[in-house]
Amino acid sequence: MDGPYEHPYPSPELAAAHPFVEYAFERHSDEEMAQRARAFREESERRRSVRLFSPDPVPRELVEEAVLAASTAPSGAHKQPWTFVGTRDPEVKAAIRVAAEEEERVNYLQNRMNDEWLEALAPLGTDHHKEFLEVAPWIVVLFEQRFEQRSDGTTRKNYYVKESTGIAAGMFITAIHRMGLATLTHTPSPMAFLRRLLGRPDNERPFVMFPIGFPLDGARVPDLRRKPLDEVFVEVDRLE
Ligand SMILES: Cc1cc2nc3c(=O)[nH]c(=O)nc-3n(C[C@H](O)[C@H](O)[C@H](O)COP(=O)(O)O)c2cc1C
Repeated sequence: MDGPYEHPYPSPELAAAHPFVEYAFERHSDEEMAQRARAFREESERRRSVRLFSPDPVPRELVEEAVLAASTAPSGAHKQPWTFVGTRDPEVKAAIRVAAEEEERVNYLQNRMNDEWLEALAPLGTDHHKEFLEVAPWIVVLFEQRFEQRSDGTTRKNYYVKESTGIAAGMFITAIHRMGLATLTHTPSPMAFLRRLLGRPDNERPFVMFPIGFPLDGARVPDLRRKPLDEVFVEVDRLE
């Protein structure tokens, strides 16, 4: 571990107090890196949010793989402050649909969303009907853990809970897409009903809900454009 560092990491004192292991990093050729980068970008471009699902079943193992992939997300102080709660039970899914539609009815029909919000949503054609919550074979609700609840009854702080859970959500969506399934990032706000319906503890708060399955044959999606690189990436090459 020779290198240019005056202050090595871990320091000998740190390494004596806490275990460290060598990072099993695999370096690829420049060509292979470019090829992998392009392939991942192209595959990412094919991902779409789906609002019409087929009822075809999805094995639990696939959902577990996506949860494990998402759980590799970096998190503040490595607290992994998330719980993925999955259900394929028709009664549970039906109860989630009823409660979500109740909230969304208020959002869409009783002015809980302002005009600007409704205008932004117009191209997506979303409304208060959430039939897909019953049709999709799985619903996975991602909960953020506001604090850590230990089995001995004590609690500990979690750090950067929203940032960490958001990164895990992104990795979950990507894992689902890569394995050949589809999902929707769904937030029928307020989502407090999910904690009650799914019997989750006080320290957990619903973050996003993911219906998961295969798209219905012929399902259509809004014809959206994604921002070009120059609108989402800026390189700063001198000190301002
Ligand atoms: C935090 C978040 C919340 C969202 N909530 C909803 C929702 O409640 N209902 C819905 O139909 N789509 C929802 N979406 C999906 C977006 O509308 C969708 O990602 C966007 O239109 C881009 O489409 P794409 O995912 O196919 O690229 C949400 C997305 C995000 C990231």
